[in-house]
Amino acid sequence: PAFWVVIPAAGVGSRMRADRPKQYLQLAGRTILEHTLDCFLDHPQLKGLVLCLSVGDPYWPELPGASDPRIQRADGGNERADSVLSGLLRLLELGAQEDDWVLVHDAARPNLSRHDLDQLLLELADDPVGGLLAVPARDTLKRAGADGRVAETVDRSQIWQAYTPQMFHFAALHRALADALVAGVAVTDEASALEWAGLAPRLVEGRADNLKITRPEDLDWLRQRWSNKV
Ligand code: C5P
Repeated sequence: PAFWVVIPAAGVGSRMRADRPKQYLQLAGRTILEHTLDCFLDHPQLKGLVLCLSVGDPYWPELPGASDPRIQRADGGNERADSVLSGLLRLLELGAQEDDWVLVHDAARPNLSRHDLDQLLLELADDPVGGLLAVPARDTLKRAGADGRVAETVDRSQIWQAYTPQMFHFAALHRALADALVAGVAVTDEASALEWAGLAPRLVEGRADNLKITRPEDLDWLRQRWSNKV
């Protein structure tokens, strides 16, 4: 199916302890954000892409992509969900229809493979709800007690880590996010907004190396892996 993309890139990424938001750190000669955009820009089924940036973001205008006509901008908001909602409103201006698919993908996930992207599109093409790339928990999981000791071991057999892209129909995603924000529900990904609306997004198993760069060591690891791409 044809699809639209929203890239929320308006976060500050404080856990990286860097001098700029993490999507603007360098990886194999370019910024993380440029690599992330490249995962989608030449895809034959892409209808359009919206990038959500902090108001006054000084870094994006300096990049070559800033003049790429395939990339439309939207203003980000306080929380990720606000940024995505703003991106959806921009998609509406660009002509997105109720039943169109929208893929939301973190700016800080530059290692999405074309195989995983196409697998998501394929597996969800006829799905009534939509879903997300996810990875089954691999380590044994512990719940911590207040004293920093193990309170219990959690059954990991049904636990998955939620990755992106997350893929939903435009109207369903828009309604779920808007309603969740009005209700004051904390939604840390798009799927949780749909879950809150009573829907059950489908889990599509993806590669674990489509990681979200969160801490300095994540970027070290990816730089190492990509060192032959420079
Ligand atoms: O902080 P975290 O890594 O969970 O953010 C996930 C994605 O959401 C990042 O790409 C970040 O730039 C984006 N984000 C946003 N607007 C916010 C907060 C986060 O676009 N207010």
